[in-house]
Amino acid sequence: MAKWLPPMVLIILVPTTNLENDDGSCRRHLSVLNWPQITCTNVDNSFFQHFVASPNRTHWIKCTNCSLNVIDERTFNFLKNNVSYVELQASRIRTLKRLAFNKLFLLKYLNLRKNDIDYLEPKCFTGIKRLLHLDLSFNFLKILTNNIFSDMSNLDILNLNYNQLFYIQPYAFAGLVNLKYLYINHNDLKKLEDKMFRYLPNLKILYLEHNSIVEIHQNAFFNLKNLNFLYLNNNSINFLVQYNFKPLTSLIDLQLRLNNLTEIQVSSFNGLSNLRTLHLSNNNISIVKPYGFVGLDSLKVLDLVRNKFVLIDFSYFDKMENLEVLWLNNNSISTFEISYKSEVQNSLVILDLSFNNLSMFNYKLLYSKMPNIKEVVLEKNSMNCDFFTNMYNFLQDKNVTLCVSSHCNFNETVVYIDDICSEVYVTSTDHVYNSTDFSTDCSTNFFGSTVFMFIALSLALFC
Ligand SMILES: *[C@@H]1O[C@H](CO)[C@@H](O)[C@H](O)[C@H]1NC(C)=O
Ligand SMILES: *[C@@H]1O[C@H](CO)[C@@H](O)[C@H](O)[C@H]1NC(C)=O
Ligand SMILES: *[C@@H]1O[C@H](CO)[C@@H](O)[C@H](O)[C@H]1NC(C)=O
Ligand SMILES: *[C@@H]1O[C@H](CO)[C@@H](O)[C@H](O)[C@H]1NC(C)=O
Ligand SMILES: *[C@@H]1O[C@H](CO)[C@@H](O)[C@H](O)[C@H]1NC(C)=O
Ligand SMILES: *[C@@H]1O[C@H](CO)[C@@H](O)[C@H](O)[C@H]1NC(C)=O
Ligand SMILES: *[C@@H]1O[C@H](CO)[C@@H](O)[C@H](O)[C@H]1NC(C)=O
Ligand SMILES: *[C@@H]1O[C@H](CO)[C@@H](O)[C@H](O)[C@H]1NC(C)=O
Ligand SMILES: *[C@@H]1O[C@H](CO)[C@@H](O)[C@H](O)[C@H]1NC(C)=O
Ligand SMILES: *[C@@H]1O[C@H](CO)[C@@H](O)[C@H](O)[C@H]1NC(C)=O
Ligand SMILES: *[C@@H]1O[C@H](CO)[C@@H](O)[C@H](O)[C@H]1NC(C)=O
Repeated sequence: MAKWLPPMVLIILVPTTNLENDDGSCRRHLSVLNWPQITCTNVDNSFFQHFVASPNRTHWIKCTNCSLNVIDERTFNFLKNNVSYVELQASRIRTLKRLAFNKLFLLKYLNLRKNDIDYLEPKCFTGIKRLLHLDLSFNFLKILTNNIFSDMSNLDILNLNYNQLFYIQPYAFAGLVNLKYLYINHNDLKKLEDKMFRYLPNLKILYLEHNSIVEIHQNAFFNLKNLNFLYLNNNSINFLVQYNFKPLTSLIDLQLRLNNLTEIQVSSFNGLSNLRTLHLSNNNISIVKPYGFVGLDSLKVLDLVRNKFVLIDFSYFDKMENLEVLWLNNNSISTFEISYKSEVQNSLVILDLSFNNLSMFNYKLLYSKMPNIKEVVLEKNSMNCDFFTNMYNFLQDKNVTLCVSSHCNFNETVVYIDDICSEVYVTSTDHVYNSTDFSTDCSTNFFGSTVFMFIALSLALFC
């Protein structure tokens, strides 16, 4: 990820030193890099129109607690200027009029965070072709209109988080040919429209978390051939159509946590040939249709935690020739089907089945289908002592660690076995020594045999 970080991020971190005071409203600073900057406080929107301090040598302009209201062509009407960084955070801006920043032709970083912007007039960003970073987060934008960013062919980062966007017009992103990061988290999008990102051929990371997305058009991701990361967590997506993600041939990580998926359709992920991690936790998935996971040739980690699976068929994971980690924990799995016909899963190293409802499954057949497995996690299921002990011995022989927690500590498993097996002893001796006896007399000495030792241990919990 680091390689796409623009130089601007570095500049933000550079501490500045106070050089001199100009007047009551603005202070001049000099950054460590000897770049002059001006910081103004409590000024209104007519202030910069009569700005006297020479902006021709100023690289940064910053306003804090200002009341700018409307920014138009006259606001920053500087003839000559070297301004590359403008930060107007929390400055009560409501509207950006056309050519608002037109004179700041060297502008690279524009921060308009935490204002009240609900309207962007067409051409408001015209003239700032060198802009690399535009931050419009924490405003009240509802619609993005066609061509609104069309003059910003160098833009690298566009932050639209925490607005109220519910509609993005088809040509809204036109011209953003170099955009790499797009943030649209915490908005009100309900649908990802046909080819809506088609003008972003160089996008690497797309954040769409915490919207109200229910539906993704079959061609929504058209032309995003360089996208590496797609974050769709916390939406209401309930259906994926066949080949929904097909154009995303460079995608590495796809996150669909906390959505409303109930089944995986045929070929839902087909085309994601470079995907390494797929996060589907916290959905309502209980069914994987045949060929549901087909095409995930490079997948290493599949996260199906906290879904509604009752039955898992090992053949769901056929053809995932690079799958190393499979998380199936926190479902309600009571049946784990493995067929003699299932394909052998040579790459699988970790299988997490903890917090399910398994009482038994064919672990010998399972092992033969995943011969390189190193860890099987089986905390909190419904297995009895005999089954668990036999499985443990079998897997021990194969050098497979049977874990009872994510720490996967050998001693924990031994304690666990003692624990579930002691329960069996207690149950089997119940007809001789009923519980009333034990609970009424805690001082009784039972340390005669191993069986009594277990009873004493469980008694200790009650006394
Ligand atoms: C910068 O502006 C000042 C007046 O504001 C002017 O005297 C000076 O010549 C300008 N310098 C350049 C390099 O334009
Ligand atoms: C703008 O800054 C550059 C250095 O970054 C400097 O060489 C140039 O003279 C400056 N121009 C003005 C008008 O101050
Ligand atoms: C911020 O601006 C408001 C209104 O202009 C003013 O009442 C308040 O005192 C200012 N706060 C600071 C910290 O300057
Ligand atoms: C998603 O929702 C959960 C629960 O409402 C919340 O805890 C989490 O912070 C949200 N994540 C994002 C990225 O908004
Ligand atoms: C999930 O889908 C069910 C119907 O399938 C619906 O009743 C429920 O409201 C949906 N939940 C969300 C968070 O969209
Ligand atoms: C899962 O389905 C149940 C109904 O079966 C619904 O109440 C719940 O909201 C769904 N969960 C999610 C995350 O959509
Ligand atoms: C699984 O469920 C258990 C018990 O409800 C909980 O303690 C644990 O945090 C859950 N794990 C995950 C990954 O959700
Ligand atoms: C566990 O599975 C049994 C049947 O094997 C079922 O009766 C029980 O309700 C299940 N428990 C949970 C918590 O799903
Ligand atoms: C398990 O490991 C031991 C040595 O650590 C080795 O001798 C044995 O062959 C291994 N067994 C299997 C089934 O890999
Ligand atoms: C496991 O128990 C043995 C003996 O009781 C102890 O020496 C060892 O340090 C323990 N290992 C861990 C990882 O706790
Ligand atoms: C078991 O409990 C009953 C009372 O519930 C008592 O009468 C009886 O003596 C107890 N002990 C045995 C060994 O049955």
